[in-house]
Amino acid sequence: MPESTPAPAPGAGARTAVYAHGHHTSVLRSHRWRTAENSAAYLLPHLRPGTNLLDVGCGPGTITLDLAERVAPGDVVGIDPAPDVLETARAEATARGGAAGKARFVTGDITEPESSALPTGGFDVVHAHQVLQHLGDPVEALRAMRRLCRPDGMVAVRDADYAAMTWWPRPPALELWAALYRRVARAAGGEPDAGRRLWGWAREAGFTDITPSASSWCFAEPADREWWGGLWAERCTASGFARLAVTGGHATEEELAAIAAGWREWAAAEDGWFAVLHGEVLCRG
Ligand SMILES: C[S@@+](CC[C@H](N)C(=O)[O-])C[C@H]1O[C@@H](n2cnc3c(N)ncnc32)[C@H](O)[C@@H]1O
Repeated sequence: MPESTPAPAPGAGARTAVYAHGHHTSVLRSHRWRTAENSAAYLLPHLRPGTNLLDVGCGPGTITLDLAERVAPGDVVGIDPAPDVLETARAEATARGGAAGKARFVTGDITEPESSALPTGGFDVVHAHQVLQHLGDPVEALRAMRRLCRPDGMVAVRDADYAAMTWWPRPPALELWAALYRRVARAAGGEPDAGRRLWGWAREAGFTDITPSASSWCFAEPADREWWGGLWAERCTASGFARLAVTGGHATEEELAAIAAGWREWAAAEDGWFAVLHGEVLCRG
């Protein structure tokens, strides 16, 4: 799939960030693996049949559609600024049918909520998974999410924390990857260590009743290592991240190829283990 998230207009300011990964197939392989169970478990006990839910930055929509099946007959809307990825989400909704088939996917940017004509106070739950880490002003995005939520509703956000990711064994190339990724993400206007910041950002956005938590993904079984290591090897050479790393002068193509080899080396190690820590907040009030 081509890269589809537009670069910010010159002078667009701190609110706008570039979505560093883009939607290359290596990125979508990661996003499409996601389910409500593995990526939104903290929210699930709070969903009821009939809950109206907005999924901000829904990407290819696999989490959105799982949530739609849980809240049926509630209305579910996914927004994302990237039209191509929404086509993928719509195709998946059609393929699944049932409650998932009724979910709607609309082009929209949470930093400009008026652009997608979403109703103020129109949703019981406004959810975002791995989105705030990519935004220039995550606090303003949380305020926008709050405005879209009913006064007694809930904003639910989960983000990865790159500095807290840990793995074994430790090929030197993966140390380079960790530093490079965080440099490129920050140069693109995001905050890669977002997981630890969510609690503070939610307070700054004005929420008074916030439940913080943390949860992780773990990749260690051979098939999981091959999948996770393989997709990161490809992301390091072919995705939006690779393009930004080179055009921003953060790495050469040769360095990226060496990092990709490091990922394959990690994946091939029989004792390979990788944990991705996430921060989460459920915000009311
Ligand atoms: C890491 S992906 C997460 C996709 C999906 N939530 C998931 O976890 O599978 C981040 C998504 O946020 C979207 N995004 C970036 N900036 C956004 C913005 N300002 N408003 C809404 N979505 C945005 C990107 O296009 C991308 O699809």
